[in-house]
Amino acid sequence: MTKPLTIADLKKMAQRRVPKMFFDYADSGAWTESTYAANEADFRDIKLRQRVLVDMTNRTLETTMIGQKVSMPVALAPTGMTGMQHADGEMLAARAAEEFGVPFTLSTMSICSIEDVASVTTKPFWFQLYVMRDRGFVLDLINRAKAAKCSALVLTADLQIIGQRHKDLRNGLSAPPKLTPKHIWQMATRPFWCMEMMKTKRRSFGNIVGHAKGLADLPSITTFANEQFDPQLSWRDVAWIKEQWGGPLIIKGILDVEDARHAAETGADAIIVSNHGGRQLDGAPSSISMLPKIVDAVADRVEVHVDGGIRSGQDVLKAVALGARGTYIGRPFLYGLGAMGKDGVTRALEIIRKEMDITMALCGKRDIKDVDSSIIA
Ligand SMILES: Cc1cc2nc3c(=O)[nH]c(=O)nc-3n(C[C@H](O)[C@H](O)[C@H](O)COP(=O)(O)O)c2cc1C
Repeated sequence: MTKPLTIADLKKMAQRRVPKMFFDYADSGAWTESTYAANEADFRDIKLRQRVLVDMTNRTLETTMIGQKVSMPVALAPTGMTGMQHADGEMLAARAAEEFGVPFTLSTMSICSIEDVASVTTKPFWFQLYVMRDRGFVLDLINRAKAAKCSALVLTADLQIIGQRHKDLRNGLSAPPKLTPKHIWQMATRPFWCMEMMKTKRRSFGNIVGHAKGLADLPSITTFANEQFDPQLSWRDVAWIKEQWGGPLIIKGILDVEDARHAAETGADAIIVSNHGGRQLDGAPSSISMLPKIVDAVADRVEVHVDGGIRSGQDVLKAVALGARGTYIGRPFLYGLGAMGKDGVTRALEIIRKEMDITMALCGKRDIKDVDSSIIA
């Protein structure tokens, strides 16, 4: 393929580079994948207002998310097993984000550890927390994120129990991959991926293995989540986490106005309107369709961010127009990473920036901070 021009181009390249089980892990939603599909489709249904004969010079996409300067309102979402899309994936993506001037969020369920990512970055990144039953381990994760000088904690609220993704079950997903004929074949047909993977020692869950008590090995996210994640997690625990962390807190996975109000009352710095990229409750509405209602209810008290289905700079602009102060991309950067490593993540960000910049101009705006619902047709 010639130079990738769209996120869809990167997705096609990633499919050719990444073993099926890991490509499918990124490209999947829960059950019928209806919410996964709605996240993208509902963005397409929003139309923009074309304006003409206005000065389009000196444009800027710079703004802030939770008071931190960003070159555009797009952060990299926390994604588990990113180091299986490409060797050392989290370290590469974090460096690409840092160079681009946007936040990188490291998942609890990453392959590279908090310390690995800190060792290759010079600016603070964000850390996403899953809450396990073992609060001692949770505290340990929080303290490690503090020691690594992470500048925000993203508490994921929508995965106390894990949604069922058929592709992962059928593929027998694990990290490191099992060495059955099927899995060996999937890897053998992706030689570039294998070569890179052979150069690294990071092939398991870096934040967990060797840190959680009695856990020498951790093949499956699903098994770990089922056994260790705390299904009793409640709003009371959020107060405890906020106190232990003591820094900027973002609550991720809010899709309901009432929950948004609860979240605002916790004193969180931001909430992320999200359905986990359609990977949890299939049949839930798309994130973008819920955004305006949640903005109306709480944006005067807490910064509102959104993720799910963003595949272009136009989508980011639509989200900002509907009241989001910031957005996150999950699959778009994973496809870039799988396609071309660090350069692919940079490419994904460049594609989105260019689309956003041109679209903003054609809507008659020059500063992202001036973008509001007046650009929606
Ligand atoms: C492969 C994959 C792994 C993910 N792992 C996590 C995770 O570990 N923690 C988390 O909070 N969200 C996780 N998410 C959800 C993302 O943070 C984000 O909400 C979602 O990807 C946004 O939708 P998009 O992929 O359409 O941009 C994951 C998403 C994907 C695609």
